[in-house]
Amino acid sequence: MLHYVLGIESSCDETGMAIYGGKPAGLVAEVLHSQIALHQQFGGVVPELASRDHVKRLVVLLESLLADAKLSLKDIRAIAYTKGPGLVGALLTGACFAKSLAYSLNIPTLGVHHLEAHILAAQLGIQETLDTPYVALLVSGGHSQWIEVNGLGQYRVLGDTLDDAVGEAFDKTAKMMGIPYPGGAKLAALADACPAPLRARFGRFPRPMIDRPDCDMSFSGLKTHALQCYMKSEQTEDDKQAIAYAFQEAIVDTLLAKAARALDETACQHLVIAGGVGANQCLRARFSDFMKARGGAVFFPEQRYCTDNGAMIAFAGYQHMQAGRYDDGLNLEVKARWPLGTAP
Ligand code: KG4
Ligand code: ZN
Repeated sequence: MLHYVLGIESSCDETGMAIYGGKPAGLVAEVLHSQIALHQQFGGVVPELASRDHVKRLVVLLESLLADAKLSLKDIRAIAYTKGPGLVGALLTGACFAKSLAYSLNIPTLGVHHLEAHILAAQLGIQETLDTPYVALLVSGGHSQWIEVNGLGQYRVLGDTLDDAVGEAFDKTAKMMGIPYPGGAKLAALADACPAPLRARFGRFPRPMIDRPDCDMSFSGLKTHALQCYMKSEQTEDDKQAIAYAFQEAIVDTLLAKAARALDETACQHLVIAGGVGANQCLRARFSDFMKARGGAVFFPEQRYCTDNGAMIAFAGYQHMQAGRYDDGLNLEVKARWPLGTAP
């Protein structure tokens, strides 16, 4: 029987680890180190620095994780790690660490799909299991997709972004207005605090591709529109706030229009919103109202499990291992690109 699974996340700029023990133990402990301070001076993630920092943190984090969990290494029965998609060097650090540790403990490993883990994180900490099929909206810094979830490992992509991911559009719009990296959440906070008299200062931003009868999306034009408004403005704090507000409204409206399409197409009543942008307060509130009005329900991971973390990797790994899926020995493979539709 599977007891404690160690999960390791190192696909980008967070080193995360957690131990998941199935029910009723649940999530036993979790640790997270964010590299924001390291990359801030460069205005974005520097892949080589990210890898080096993961290497520095992994052992230290594992020690503190075990101490928090009051467990020792011999209690760990299997190790799950992020296999992809992500930065290849960063992925390799976590994969090598997982494989070496597992070899020394004579236990199995499993490479987990990062995007699948984001989606499954909506079930972390809640007692019920979400019945399939349901629709998932995955909105992170690197991906924006509508997915029909038909079971563990069974995903059909309904729509994708043709250019920027939603989180990327948030980050780039923030950056061009001088808001320091990572600007997405700061831009959202500006939008949320925008007083009513300022909201219409730059008119209504476009809702890209909502007339198209599919679930594909495009956000780079919206970002350019925000830039044009900013360049024409006096670039005051009020201007930034008004642009942030109009931008966020356009993003959320666009996603709502596509949600209706994805739910109609699949005849699903349940929606999961996962990935870093799932932490957005406006999006959470508007989607809750929208799903209630449709007689359905929306599920979000807890705020701290929206952005990258080790808990979602331990949780996803645990479920696949329960189903008997493990890595093939010590073979080491990571995938910088890995479409979700092909997850094991
Ligand atoms: O899932 P995640 O941690 O990393 C990836 O796998 O990409 O997502 C990070 C993304 C970043 O683009 C960040 O700006 C965005 O999520 N994000 C937000 C918010 N919090 C994080 N975007 C909008 N509103 C937020 N509150
Ligand atoms: Zn992520």
